[in-house]
This record gives sequence, structure tokens and C-alpha cells, in this order.
Amino acid sequence: MEINGKTRVCGLLGNPVEHTLSPMIHNTLAKILGHDMVYVPFLVEPGRVAEAVTGSLALNLLGLNVTVPYKSEVIASLQEMDDLAGNIGAVNTLVRTEGGYKGYNTDMEGLYRAMTDEGISMEGEQIIVLGAGGAARAVAYLCAVKGADRVYMLNRTLGKAQTVAGEVNRTMGRDVIVPMAMEEYNKLPEGKFLAVQGTSVGLAPHVDDVVIADEVFYEKIHTGFDLIYSPWETRFMKMTKAHGGRAYNGLKMLLYQGIIAYELWNRVSVSKEDAQVVYEKLKAHLTGKV
Ligand code: ATR
Repeated sequence: MEINGKTRVCGLLGNPVEHTLSPMIHNTLAKILGHDMVYVPFLVEPGRVAEAVTGSLALNLLGLNVTVPYKSEVIASLQEMDDLAGNIGAVNTLVRTEGGYKGYNTDMEGLYRAMTDEGISMEGEQIIVLGAGGAARAVAYLCAVKGADRVYMLNRTLGKAQTVAGEVNRTMGRDVIVPMAMEEYNKLPEGKFLAVQGTSVGLAPHVDDVVIADEVFYEKIHTGFDLIYSPWETRFMKMTKAHGGRAYNGLKMLLYQGIIAYELWNRVSVSKEDAQVVYEKLKAHLTGKV
């Protein structure tokens, strides 16, 4: 694209940002849709996120994504918060308004759209969430909001799962999240589950790691969704498939969190066909088939 005096700038605040795929998502969308917009990564040093937001406003940046480790810290610098982001306690998208930025969490809507795309529903489901960190907490909240029957949250540190369960159950007004220690998987009730892998275990380069290595556990899973997309197929996904389940990686979630942010910034709606073009480009990049 040719940058001119009217080009709008969007970007990513994070640390590190070197390996982000977000510029590929947004710059590809801008090209396909013919928008005069460019998206760039901004490396923000610890303790400087408030300055970065003030500076972005002064520079008239249209919108920002926020990634690790600033998704919670950035909230203090915002003028307004979307309800979903407020309940999750994490923001990954800032949209420019009159006097400041409004914070959104498109990660969760992104996961929801990714699951819907694959024909996965949470309503009335028995769901296992592995992990209780920032990502898993948001997943558990999403499952609860989308009408899951029960969400069994398994975590190495039981106390963290208990804290998340307490918070989400209070917000929802029902005991939907059941906290458990990771090694208690053999105490899960009978039946088949949708399982979301939300820990960092199995992320490249530690591709042979898996959070639960016992084959018996995978017999309980009808659908496995790993939030990781590098490697393309995690050991969690391989084990799920080996026991007859369907398995998906986190690339569509990444894609859709980006698309929803793009839609908010540019007030457009991205078609399925255009989303697919971006998806194929990301996939080719990740699997080395460029
Ligand atoms: P994120 O924001 O990506 O969710 P996080 O908040 O640091 O990252 O959470 C990491 C998650 O991975 C946690 O659930 C963590 O378990 P603990 O709460 O017990 O720390 C989980 N995790 C990381 N390494 C793990 C390991 N080796 N075994 C089991 N769980 C692990």
C-alpha cells in the first residue's frame, strides 16, 4: 500500500512483540477491503503502558491491540470499558472515542466465533477447561455466559481455580464453574466433554509436553480445543484425535479476535470469504507452506 497524509494508524502494545501475527491479519484485511490503514507493532517497556496510551491518543492512532503483559494494566488508562471486558478483567482492544480509548476484549468473542465456525456449541455442554491463568479464566467466563451446564476447571494450583470459580459463579449467580486440581481428572463425572486447553504447556519449542499425559483422560473428550497454534498440532490435540475426538488449534481464535478488533476500528463487517483468505495466509506462514 502507499502511505499518504490520510493513512490511519493502528498498532499493538506489548512486550515482546517481535513474533506477533497481528500485522499480517490487519494489513491483509486493509488490502483486501481497500482501507487506507496500516498496523504496526509497538514494543512498550515495563511501567510505560500509561504513557503509551496517552501518546497514542496524542498521535491520533485509530485503535490498538494490547497483548502480554499489559492486558490488565492498560485498564487504568482507559476512558470507558465494555461490559464483557470489565467482567473478564482483561482488555486486548482499544477503540478511539471522543476523549480517550474504550477497552474491549475480543479474545473471547474471537474464541466464540472460532468455535461457532467449527460447529462447536457451549450451550448445555459439560466442559473441561485446563488451566486457570488469564486465558483460561476468560474461557471459563465465556462458557458460563454462553450457557454451559457445568465447567470443570482443572489447574495445577488448585487455589487459582478456586478463586476464578468463586468470581465467575458470583457474577453469574449460579455454581457453574467447579474447581479441581489437575491430578483429579479421574474424579470427573461420567460422560463425554468439550475440553479447552488453556495452559501454556505444549507451546513451541516444548512440543512434546502435555498437561495430562494419561491416555484414559482423552477417552472423555469428544472435542478438544487448544488455544495454542504453534505447533500446528499440539500433543493435546494428537492425543484427543487418537481417542476418536475432534481437535482444533487456536489459530481461528487468533484470527477472529483480530477481525473483531478490525471491525470495531473501521465500522465494517468482514465476510466469511475474506476471513478465509486471511486464515489461509496465516496457516501457510505457520506451517511453512508459503
Ligand atoms: P495466560 O495469560 O497465557 O493464561 P498465565 O496466566 O501465566 O498465562 O497462566 C498459565 C497457565 O498455565 C496456568 O494455569 C498455569 O498453572 P498454575 O496456575 O498452576 O501456574 C499453567 N501452567 C504453566 N506451566 C504449567 C505446567 N508445567 N504444568 C501445569 N500447568 C502449567
